[in-house]
Amino acid sequence: MATPSTPVITLTNLRKRFGIGDAQHYAIDGIDLTIESGEFIAIMGPSGCGKTTLLNILGLLDSDIEGSYELEGTSISRLSRRKQSRIRSEQIGFIFQSFNLIPRLNVIDNVSLPLIYKGLSKLARTKKASAILRSFHLGEREFYMPHQLSGGQMQRVAIARALVNEPSIILADEPTGNLDSHASHIIMEELSDLHQKGNTIIMVTHNPDLTTYASRVITMLDGKIDTDTFKLPVIPKTNKKVPLGAHRKTHHDPSEQEGDN
Ligand SMILES: Nc1ncnc2c1ncn2[C@@H]1O[C@H](COP(=O)(O)OP(=O)(O)OP(=O)(O)O)[C@@H](O)[C@H]1O
Ligand SMILES: [Mg+2]
Repeated sequence: MATPSTPVITLTNLRKRFGIGDAQHYAIDGIDLTIESGEFIAIMGPSGCGKTTLLNILGLLDSDIEGSYELEGTSISRLSRRKQSRIRSEQIGFIFQSFNLIPRLNVIDNVSLPLIYKGLSKLARTKKASAILRSFHLGEREFYMPHQLSGGQMQRVAIARALVNEPSIILADEPTGNLDSHASHIIMEELSDLHQKGNTIIMVTHNPDLTTYASRVITMLDGKIDTDTFKLPVIPKTNKKVPLGAHRKTHHDPSEQEGDN
């Protein structure tokens, strides 16, 4: 399958049509794009230009497309639904624009959900979820229900859930949309840290300040790529008192987290 030089993502004349008859239109209208492993891409563009639609396709949530999408050298049209959902649960972490927390599950069950597919025991899942929640300063909210959280807390839970599985591709749809600028930069440092560890990150944002963390900035317009700029990421200095992601490197082994605040 993939060799070290195989791009993670190759899109060729990708199109996505919504609607039927006279009402149909292309939300994605001919995108050619190659994304290499380890890139940190920021996608910008006006509301309705197709950013979420594109992320859904990249995250294998929507495979009803025209053109081609190759993920690590394999055309997704060749993959069964079962194989697609396996890749999604093992390799892709999705931070949704609308959080998508499951309302009837408490915080820790929401976060440990992706681990079910890994075949871990309930105890192991809970320990791992608990460790990442502590790293996001949500340890005291483990047994809250989503509706009992603030918007910013919900967003941090959603991010913890996306990262608990240690996915190699992270798709983030306005991950800081509900956070103030200080909290935004802390989340961005978390993503930046994951980028430095070699993960591929594709993030939609409306905030030009946050593109400083990215290695490439793509702007979209009317379902097409408008501009595509490579750059050196700059990690702004924040005056954060307590880094939310300080212990991420140990998050592989939750048992080492026991002494963590
Ligand atoms: N399920 C759907 N059925 C019909 N049209 C859709 C559907 N989802 C998205 N669209 C349309 O596709 C276009 C792109 O929508 P999309 O959600 O990708 O925009 P966006 O760039 O993410 O916008 P925003 O910045 O507001 O989140 C819009 O015109 C939208 O109305
Ligand atoms: Mg959107």
